Amino acid sequence: IVRSSSSAKQSLLRRSFSSSSSSVPERKVAILGAAGGIGQPLALLMKLNPLVSSLSLFDIANTPGVAADVGHINTRSEVVGYMGDDELAKALEGADLVIIPAGVPRKPGMTRDDLFNINAGIVKNLSSAIAKYCPHALVNMISNPVNSTVPIAAEIFKKAGMYDEKKLFGVTTLDVVRAKTFYAGKANVPVAEVNVPVIGGHAGVTILPLFSQATPQANLSADVLTALTKRTQDGGTEVVEAKAGKGSATLSMAYAGALFADACLKGLNGVPDVVECSYVQSTITELPFFASKVRLGKNGVEEVLDLGPLSDFEKEGLEALKPELKSSIEKGVKFANQ
Ligand code: NAI
Repeated sequence: IVRSSSSAKQSLLRRSFSSSSSSVPERKVAILGAAGGIGQPLALLMKLNPLVSSLSLFDIANTPGVAADVGHINTRSEVVGYMGDDELAKALEGADLVIIPAGVPRKPGMTRDDLFNINAGIVKNLSSAIAKYCPHALVNMISNPVNSTVPIAAEIFKKAGMYDEKKLFGVTTLDVVRAKTFYAGKANVPVAEVNVPVIGGHAGVTILPLFSQATPQANLSADVLTALTKRTQDGGTEVVEAKAGKGSATLSMAYAGALFADACLKGLNGVPDVVECSYVQSTITELPFFASKVRLGKNGVEEVLDLGPLSDFEKEGLEALKPELKSSIEKGVKFANQ
C-alpha cells in the first residue's frame, strides 16, 4: 500500500479538507486497472474531481508510482495505491463507485470480442471481489467487450446474492463523446452545445447514434448521416489503427470515463436530472441489456428512458444490431455460469 504522503500529514489534510467542504459528502472511488493506458489519465481526472474524497488506485502492477504521482496534486481526495490481489479487499472496502478499466486492449485487426478470453476472466474475478468487499457500490464497466462483460458481472453478482441492476453500468460514454464531436464537425455547430443519444451496445454495429435527435438540429443529407453513423461505430478502430499496435483509445476514454463517473457521483449526491447514456439492464427492447439514456439518482439507475422517435434509418440499425448484441449477452452469461 502506498500513501501519497505521511499519515500525520494526511490526517491534517483530511481535517482541513473536511471542514472546507463539509457540504460535499465523502465519496470513495476505486479504479481497478489504474496503472493502465486508461487507468492513469482516469486517475488524474478523478483526482481533479471535487466530489471525490478518497481515490483508491488498484492494479496488479505499477500502482505505487501512479499513486505517488497523482497523490501530489493539491486537490480534495486522499490517494492510496494498492497492488496485487492481496490488497484488492482494502482497495474496495467502503467504495461508493468502482470503475473498471482492467484488461487488455485491442490491436489492429482485432474486434472487441477477440478480447473476450482474457478480459472475461479478469472481470469475473474483480466482480467476485466487489460482491464481497463493496456490494453496495456503483460499478462502471469499461473493460471490453462491454456487451459481454456487463452480463458477466451481473451473473457473478447474482450468484453472490447481491445483484442490484440499478448499480451496474457499461460505460458507453465514449461513443457519445465521439458522436458529438463528429456531428459538430459536419453540422457546423459549437461542439460544446451538441447532444446526441447513442443506444444499443458498445461494439461495431451495436453502437447506434441517434442523429435524428441531435441538438442543435441541422439538415444533414442521408449520405452524411450514414457516414457519421459509420464513423461513430468505427471510432475505436480508427484509434486502434492510428496507434498501430500500441493499444486503443486511452485519453478520450479516460475523459469519457471521468464524465460518466462524475454523473454517477452527482446522482448519488442527489443532484436532480442527471441523464447519461449507459449500457444497463433494460426492458425497453426485448434484450436484457441495452444502452440508452438513463436518469441517475441516489441508488444508481433511477429511470431507463424511452428511445424516443427514430428515423427509418435508425429503426433499421436497431433491428440490425439485435442479433449481435443478443449473442454477446448470451456469451457473457454462459461464461459466468460455466
Ligand atoms: P492497458 O493494457 O493499457 O491497461 C490495462 C491495465 O489493467 C494494466 O495496467 C493491467 O496491469 C491491468 N490489469 C490486468 N489484469 C488486472 C486485474 N486482474 N486487476 C486489475 N488490473 C488488471 O489497457 P487500456 O488501454 O487501459 O484498456 C483497458 C480496457 O478498456 C480494455 O479492455 C479496452 O478494450 C477497454 N476499453 C474500453 C472502452 C470503452 O469505451 N468502454 C474504450 C477503450 C478501451
